[in-house]
Parts: sequence; C-alpha cells; structure tokens
Amino acid sequence: MLKLPGLIDPHVHLREPGGTHKEDWDSGTAAALAGGFTQVLAMPNTQPPITGNDELALTLAAAARKARCDYAVYLGAGAENAHDLPALAPQAAGLKMYLDQTYGPLRLDEMSLWMAHFENWPRHLPIAAHAEGRTLAAILLLAALYDRSLHLCHVSRREEILLIRKAKEQGLKVTCEVTPHHLFLTEDDLPRLGNGPGEVRPTLATRRDQQALWDNLDVIDCFATDHAPHTLEEKDSANPPPGYPGLETALPLLFTAVHQGRLSLDDLLLRMVANPRRIFQLPEQPETWVEVDTDVRWEIRARDTFTRCAWTPFEGMPVQGKVRRVVLRGQAVYQDGQVLARPGSGMNIRDRNYRLSSKP
Ligand code: NCD
Ligand code: ZN
Ligand code: ZN
Ligand code: ZN
Repeated sequence: MLKLPGLIDPHVHLREPGGTHKEDWDSGTAAALAGGFTQVLAMPNTQPPITGNDELALTLAAAARKARCDYAVYLGAGAENAHDLPALAPQAAGLKMYLDQTYGPLRLDEMSLWMAHFENWPRHLPIAAHAEGRTLAAILLLAALYDRSLHLCHVSRREEILLIRKAKEQGLKVTCEVTPHHLFLTEDDLPRLGNGPGEVRPTLATRRDQQALWDNLDVIDCFATDHAPHTLEEKDSANPPPGYPGLETALPLLFTAVHQGRLSLDDLLLRMVANPRRIFQLPEQPETWVEVDTDVRWEIRARDTFTRCAWTPFEGMPVQGKVRRVVLRGQAVYQDGQVLARPGSGMNIRDRNYRLSSKP
C-alpha cells in the first residue's frame, strides 16, 4: 500500500449550472475522490458561462451545497468583462481564456480583447488558456510582451511542446499541462472509439506527437484530466460535443506508466500535487492522503465509475494500481468503491475562511 498526498486537478468541467444531466457538483466531485483528487479547479464554460458576479455566485452556491471535495471555479474571459473581473479575481481559481473553438460559447478571437484581459487581470493571479498551434504562439507573445505568467491547457502537439520548451529557455513565465488521453491515446484509437465519442479538443494526435510529449516530460508542469463529460447519446448524435471524462482513470493510467518505468513516482507527484499547487497558489490540505494498492491489476470499466456521463474512452484498458481509500481533512471520504463524503462537505479553496477552518 502506497500513501500519496491528495491529488490536484487544475482542469475539470463539472457542468453545473446548465448541464446537470451529464455531471453536477455532486457526481463530478464523487468521481474526483474516487480518482484520488481532493482539490479540483472547475472551468467556466457552463450554461450560463461564468463571466461575472451573478454566474460565479450561482455556481459557488451549487458547489457549496453539493461538492464532496475541495474546489475553486475559474472566471471566463469575455468580450465585455475585462474591467469587471479584477474585483472578482480573488474569489476565482484563475482567469480562463478560450482562444480556439471548443465546447460552449466562450471564445475570444480578437487579439485586442486578449490584451484587455492581460492589462486588467491582476498580475499575480493565474491565467489559463486554451490555445492550439499558432494560437499558442500568439498568446505566448502576449505573455512575453506583458511579462506575466501564463498556463497553457492540454498541450497535445510536438510543435507546441517544442515551442514551450524554447519559451521557457528564454525565461518566459509559462507553464503547461498535458492530459492522460493525449499521453495514452492517439488518432489510431479513433476507429475503436467511433467518430462521435472520439471527438475531443485538442483532437487526438499522431504517434509522433504523443512520443514528443513523453520525450519532453521535463517541459510538462502538470497532468490535468480536462474531465469533460458528455453523455454517449450526445456523443453519438449528429453534432457530437468534444470531450472525454478523465477523473477516475488518470491516476491508474499514470501509475501504470510508473510501474512500467516510463515515469517515476516523483515525476507523477510533482505534476499532480506540487506544481499545480504552486502555479495556482493552492493551500495544503491538512490530514489528507490517498492510499493506493500498487499490486492490483484491473481493467477500466465505465460501469464502475461515478461520473454521470457513464462512459470512458479507456474501456477495457488494463491498468495496475487502485485507489483504496481517500482521507480528506481527517475524514475518510472514499473507501473500496464507496464515496463516503457527504455532498456539501467540500470547501471553496478561495473562500477567506478556508485556511482557518482547515488549519492543521
Ligand atoms: C471541453 C468541454 O467539453 O467543456 N471539451 C474538450 O474537448 N476538451 C472544452 C475544452 O476544454 O476545450
Ligand atoms: Zn480547452
Ligand atoms: Zn481548457
Ligand atoms: Zn477543458
């Protein structure tokens, strides 16, 4: 039995408000605990999107009632809200900028809008961007011009990771995350997955792209699931939304890579605990840990998961290592397939009382 710190996922979509048929704060945070995550940062592309005080308050109220693990919520950069966000910034996980087409209406095309957000968002607080290919090159220029930190979401291509390496070498304050699905799947998996279910942004890449991620592990700051649940009915429709669930499969997949010698346990913990904590300025959780049975070999099955979307792109995949027990702030919150935490027991990491109530 191996004892790990509670894992941090800086990129999840929990679908409440507006999409609770595929996930809500209850089911999504139950999935997090089952996957060994005790802190999650939730994305703002909900319905309505979280672009101001009202939507943030609505979302935080739902989370306060239902969350089973600790959390914070991103604000979404919009065309009109650059001046209003600084006042809300301390309550948020960070600012999320959508710069390419993906799920939901949040997308900023004009670079003048990007500049407005770089000029207004507090310098010391996190900005995360969905920026693929040349969009990534463009937003890196802004990070350089404004000399501020920038976190790049779900990097998936060889050209992207090589550009980020160069940017880091030049001293840019840039960090990045990679998802398990881009580390463990490629476009070769699309026939098995089917066209609709296979949809994800960034799309699954070539084996050469995938190999470049493994070869440049030192450039990857975080492993983030980009847990993006949609129902199979939606995925099989004429207009399939992009996204895969990932909270319950990330640790088993990455732990299997540790077992195979492709990754060290330190490599894993740096990217799932220490780095996300530093980049997103997250407090430590006292009396919090995850017990992993390192010997158990098992196959990933959607029927055993807590996510409401009820499928996984890793169906049937053999893995080694299983989360047995999770303890959060002194309470057993997950044990052997049962989520024990009660809805509402999770806490808002950005709440000013968080540190007080969780003091060691
Ligand atoms: C995400 C979603 O469904 O919200 N989908 C995805 O394919 N990754 C949006 C996003 O993270 O870009
Ligand atoms: Zn994205
Ligand atoms: Zn993203
Ligand atoms: Zn996402």
